[in-house]
Amino acid sequence: MNSIKIISVVGARPNFIKIAPFMRAINQYNENNLENRVIHILVHTGQHYDDRMSKAFFESLDIPEPDINLGIGSGSHAEQVGNTMIAYEKILLQEKPDWVVVVGDVNATLACSVTAKKLNINVCHIEAGLRSGDLTMPEEINRLVTDRISDLLLTPDRLSSENLRKEGVPEKKIKFVGNIMIDTLVNNLEKASKLAIREIIQNNLIDNSVQEILPSGKETDKGFALLTIHRPSNVDKRETLEPILDFLIDEVATEIPVIWPVHPRTQKMLHDFDLWQKIRNCPNIILLYPVGYHEMLRLNKEAKIMLTDSGGLQEECCVLGTPCVTLRWNTERPVTLKEHGGASVLVGNNVENIRKAFHNELKTGRIPQKPELWDGQTAMRCVDAIINYT
Ligand code: UD1
Ligand code: UDP
Repeated sequence: MNSIKIISVVGARPNFIKIAPFMRAINQYNENNLENRVIHILVHTGQHYDDRMSKAFFESLDIPEPDINLGIGSGSHAEQVGNTMIAYEKILLQEKPDWVVVVGDVNATLACSVTAKKLNINVCHIEAGLRSGDLTMPEEINRLVTDRISDLLLTPDRLSSENLRKEGVPEKKIKFVGNIMIDTLVNNLEKASKLAIREIIQNNLIDNSVQEILPSGKETDKGFALLTIHRPSNVDKRETLEPILDFLIDEVATEIPVIWPVHPRTQKMLHDFDLWQKIRNCPNIILLYPVGYHEMLRLNKEAKIMLTDSGGLQEECCVLGTPCVTLRWNTERPVTLKEHGGASVLVGNNVENIRKAFHNELKTGRIPQKPELWDGQTAMRCVDAIINYT
């Protein structure tokens, strides 16, 4: 085999966490194959750009600086996808890679897979085959299009491989490799476990005035609930977001402290809807900036319960066993659900559902579960699949 050239693409926070082990696996492969090295280029589309959403992950997960940053930034879907395609095409024409590797389901994934395929470059999709069946989710469109045109579809679980088969994808394109995000969890759990909760809070507080409500010295007996919410379907409409906030203030925070690393989309919407003061004034809700990977892992490991609409956190809760109330009506990650042995229950954004699940799940203890091949070795299986592709 001659050496091959791969361009990997990242754009948004969850992508950084997935690419870290892939790049390590390439380095490991190269150390053992001095004759036929993989030439690797990392492109960041710039979809996420705040230091806390991007740079922090490169530093803490030892991801080398991107070779190229397209600097796309925020915008409408068409703006983000269109601008990425225009900029990325120039890179592909110049670099002429053998493979483009995309991860996940964000706009960078869609834009770069389509651009590469139109230049007849092989595309490998890591985390292929996830399906929520919900076309109102931008990510579902990204998944469908990317998987339809990719040459190599690396799936995190057998249900995802089955989804692809049902869509008529030829068997030779599908390879079940496990969950690459869990490689990062496995590699970083020990380091995360050494962090002190109180320091995480102090170092990431959005508003110093809430210092006095922090549990002093050590965590309270009751522990805390951990919350993240960023889906447009939950945060982009006041009539959906406000009842959830009221429930958090009136019924969750009165029972247990809530730690909430606020996604920038959500912070913006809370300000736009004039809801920021309301949530800020609640004494038992601790508002944090988006926290680093190790910090989130530590908080998740300690939390009594998670309330989230994040895909990645559903998976991490499954492995850590954190009871997870998933603020979505559907999920593309059914292996994380309780009925499949996971830790998550779907409640949508209806307050009555959330209330019931919150009280039920708070009583549940931790039940860690590692779905098949969520074993920390997925990245090397991805590299092997690309190298051995025929
Ligand atoms: C994106 C992904 C979503 C993923 C999430 C992970 C798509 C369609 N959406 O959603 O699948 O779950 O990332 O976090 O790709 N903003 C900042 N600073 C930043 C980034 C964003 O302030 O560094 C603000 C901007 O106001 C921006 C808004 O957040 O308009 C939304 O950002 P965007 O990247 O469009 O979508 P996300 O909601 O982050
Ligand atoms: N995460 C983090 N800090 C935060 C929130 C999330 O490090 O403040 C991590 C989380 O542990 C998981 C990933 O980011 O590894 C999930 O990303 P996100 O929720 O942004 O996107 P999704 O997975 O929903 O696409």
